[in-house]
Amino acid sequence: MGQVLAVVSGKGGTGKTSLCAAVACCLAKLGQKVLCIDADVGLRNLDISLGMSQEPALPFTAVMSGEYPLSKAAVHPKFEHLHFLTAPVTTQPEDLDAEAFSAMISHAKNDYDWVLIDAPAGVGAGFRLAAANADLAMVVTGGEPAALRDGARTAQALEQVSRAEAKIVVNRIRTGFFKRLRFTVDDCMDTVGLPLLGIVPEDEAVSLSAAAGKPLARSGRKSAYEAVKHITLRLMGRKTALLDL
Ligand SMILES: Nc1ncnc2c1ncn2[C@@H]1O[C@H](COP(=O)(O)OP(=O)(O)O)[C@@H](O)[C@H]1O
Ligand SMILES: [Mg+2]
Repeated sequence: MGQVLAVVSGKGGTGKTSLCAAVACCLAKLGQKVLCIDADVGLRNLDISLGMSQEPALPFTAVMSGEYPLSKAAVHPKFEHLHFLTAPVTTQPEDLDAEAFSAMISHAKNDYDWVLIDAPAGVGAGFRLAAANADLAMVVTGGEPAALRDGARTAQALEQVSRAEAKIVVNRIRTGFFKRLRFTVDDCMDTVGLPLLGIVPEDEAVSLSAAAGKPLARSGRKSAYEAVKHITLRLMGRKTALLDL
């Protein structure tokens, strides 16, 4: 039975899509069978971060409605066990059939080791759809106080609609950031009220790889790629140390 991981945050632009794609590729590299679903209805862009923008993609609504089987999900050009369903362009999240979405996810859990759902920003209908069907939730936040407060609100919203085990990922950390703020990752966990899944450095490789239409690749010992690798291993139940930033 596969695990469903929802990638969420209250704010937009925290790095949900980038990290969802990077974790998906890393899981696939480790031999896991992965389905990625872009649930950011209206603002879809997971295809770009996955390096799949040139592939014909099937919207998840076409699978939900029974028009197409799950086996028609787009296949990643580099990782044959990484499959993708895009978001519909014209449908509103409020108009999606929550039961049909859940049924699709249940079916997908039989076929995949991992189902990753890239949620839209905020705690609206799209968030609820992702959260309600998740076993695990990755709350992506920045390290500054305002971002962490937003992370705390997201954690509370998750608790109301989801039974998922939630953890935070603190993204876009610049070298020396915590030292300058006299802040630690423990403070991040305390503020958000969730355990830590990982920290990811600010790394221009994240936007450069998306711009080049390629999955995130290693760009150094303390790169976002390395951080994602640690996060992925932890998701798979392995014990790895935090990246020292
Ligand atoms: N660790 C990182 N280092 C540098 N840029 C990042 C990092 N994570 C995300 N970004 C950039 O931040 C922007 C927003 O990321 P995105 O994944 O689209 O966020 P969201 O899905 O939460 O809206 C993108 O331009 C992306 O390239
Ligand atoms: Mg996004």
